Amino acid sequence: MADLTTRLGALTLPNPVMTASGCAANGRELHRFFDLTDLGAFVTKTVMADPRSGRPTPRMAETSSGMLNSIGLQGPGIAAFLDKDLTWLHSIGARVVVSIAGNTAAEFAEVARALASHPSFACVVAVEINISCPNVANRGLVFACDPMSSSTVVGLVHQELPPGTPTFAKLTPDVTDIVAIADAALQAGATGLTMINTLLGIVIDTDRLRPQLAGITGGLSGPAIRPVAVRAIWQVAGAMREGRIDTAPIIGVGGIRTGLDALELIAAGASAVQVGTATFNDPSAPRRVRDELDAALDARALTLADAVGIAHRRKVQL
Ligand code: FUM
Repeated sequence: MADLTTRLGALTLPNPVMTASGCAANGRELHRFFDLTDLGAFVTKTVMADPRSGRPTPRMAETSSGMLNSIGLQGPGIAAFLDKDLTWLHSIGARVVVSIAGNTAAEFAEVARALASHPSFACVVAVEINISCPNVANRGLVFACDPMSSSTVVGLVHQELPPGTPTFAKLTPDVTDIVAIADAALQAGATGLTMINTLLGIVIDTDRLRPQLAGITGGLSGPAIRPVAVRAIWQVAGAMREGRIDTAPIIGVGGIRTGLDALELIAAGASAVQVGTATFNDPSAPRRVRDELDAALDARALTLADAVGIAHRRKVQL
């Protein structure tokens, strides 16, 4: 067995595999397939201040290489989430990353404040600041499209959390310069980055010749976006290696179905990975990916720590 221990700043996890936010609700369903404590951490569905029904249906569309979702941050609101979901996750001993969002920067702060004051905050190992959900009515509300907005949100969230709480800003690849957004989030105090959220797309129903999704646009996830995730991680990790931005841990997400897929993101610079869309047709995918990654590292006589960013050290010299 390989040493899968990973360090994300001050946070140490026994292995680097997590769920991706939104692909396993708040854990109960997945826990029927495997023990959530087998994962490095469980990442919750993004929670906002108030209950939300999300966007109109249909809000899922399949493509040949992934799927589009247009859920629109459906959820119970922070109070119900804390009392029902986080309390349950705490009771089973899960290490939890809570994904939070807001319609405004102030709402992000409100959610963080409520989270930090709940007794079950004890099981929260990190907060993921979802500044990149594409399924919002106004593109201007994708905070991660703008360095200043990203910085404002991260800064306000930090003021509400106990000092030292690890935070990860979740970024979108739908920007011209993801390194500039990463830099802004880190300067504002984020411990690290989660990359990437889904890419904005549209699917047309060719029988009805109209958009399949009621919300028209949706976020593309699945195998098609893995090379985009690898590229984004590579660019940001490269900027860190060259000293252009602060060095910080990266959690990689996007199209991981196997242990080798996970290894790709790790070799590009991710210290942990999240498994999302693969969970829909194989609920045990996160744990299987952990086991396959273990075998892949073992076969290469590498520890997880050795493998993080290894491809930067091995790239073909021109
Ligand atoms: O629409 C959604 O709930 C998706 C959220 C996200 O991609 O961050």
